[in-house]
Amino acid sequence: MNALTRIKDRAKAKKRRVVLPEGTEPRVVRAAKKILSEEIAAVTLLGDEQEIEKLAKEHGLNLNKVEVINPNHAPEFNEFVAEFMEIRKKRNITEEQAKTAMLNTLFFGAMLVRHDRADASIAGSVNTTGDVLRAAIQVIGLKEGINSVSSCFMMTVPKYRDEFDKVYLYADCAVLPNPTAEQLASIAASTADTMKNLLGEEPRVAFLSFSTKGSASHSDVTKVKTAYELFKKDYPDIRADGELQVDAAIVPEVAKSKAPDGQIGGDANILIFPDLDAGNIAYKLTQRLANATATGPIIQGLAAPANDLSRGCSAEDILDVTAIAMLMKG
Ligand SMILES: CC(C)(COP(=O)(O)OP(=O)(O)OC[C@H]1O[C@@H](n2cnc3c(N)ncnc32)[C@H](O)[C@@H]1OP(=O)(O)O)[C@@H](O)C(=O)NCCC(=O)NCCS
Repeated sequence: MNALTRIKDRAKAKKRRVVLPEGTEPRVVRAAKKILSEEIAAVTLLGDEQEIEKLAKEHGLNLNKVEVINPNHAPEFNEFVAEFMEIRKKRNITEEQAKTAMLNTLFFGAMLVRHDRADASIAGSVNTTGDVLRAAIQVIGLKEGINSVSSCFMMTVPKYRDEFDKVYLYADCAVLPNPTAEQLASIAASTADTMKNLLGEEPRVAFLSFSTKGSASHSDVTKVKTAYELFKKDYPDIRADGELQVDAAIVPEVAKSKAPDGQIGGDANILIFPDLDAGNIAYKLTQRLANATATGPIIQGLAAPANDLSRGCSAEDILDVTAIAMLMKG
């Protein structure tokens, strides 16, 4: 059974609810139908009721099984406006600005998650990544102990050494361009959580660099080494090592010669890249050269899950992301 099938099975057992803020997009309506028929989650759609009704008829979605909310006439609208003003009070936003935000389904959806009325919000089929993340960061906020929202990709490699469908988490490949050492440590902590929540595996974290254990000296190497030390201080029980070249992270024989005293022995399942250039290039290279399946970006580090979609996504992709998001809460 591959990782995504396992994730779907585990998501079903959780019996959670997803809010889909882009309820007037046909792919989202088709996804809602699939999510319900595969029993991955209960569904809340946001948007104009009449438009949603029309699309539901066209795509065979039974609305009796769906919660539909139009923020315009929602009974909780005024309460959410007041709460948003309170959350954003350091930015001195006006009531008008708060009303505009709550009429935006991305913000309204994030507010439902904040209130535990839904377990995750998923959008991005028509909105940009920046807009999806901004709503989540402002309304849901960060998980305790985490300093930044980041992302990871789940990479399923068809065959590596003797293993089939080997899964790695790569981070960060999509959100933070130039992470500081503190942010790298936080990315690693979030990715370790993602590993436990999604795959139920013990995390083994490698902080990657062009140097292994002092083989080169440069400020970029120092950043990665510092990130590893910060991480070990905060999470002494999670197996980790750094700074490591990628071969010392994933090839046991190389680890034996280059990092013989390390905690992961060339068997890392989480690769933390020094910056977004490295992470983004690496995931695309693995996808193309190793024929790996890249699932993501999986957004992590939020107090409750919200996820982004690619604007080219299909209804099937939305279903997959929903299954992942249903597990991100733990
Ligand atoms: C996250 C993102 C939306 C923030 O953009 P922004 O609103 O212009 O960011 P700003 O620097 O003005 O910060 C706005 C607020 O968000 C916070 N913030 C920004 N990035 C953050 C992050 N990664 N984690 C946590 N908070 C973040 C800031 O601290 C600030 O908070 P405040 O208003 O409470 O003081 C932006 O970095 C982004 O678009 N990232 C995605 C990049 C992308 O498109 N990648 C490709 C995807 S495949």
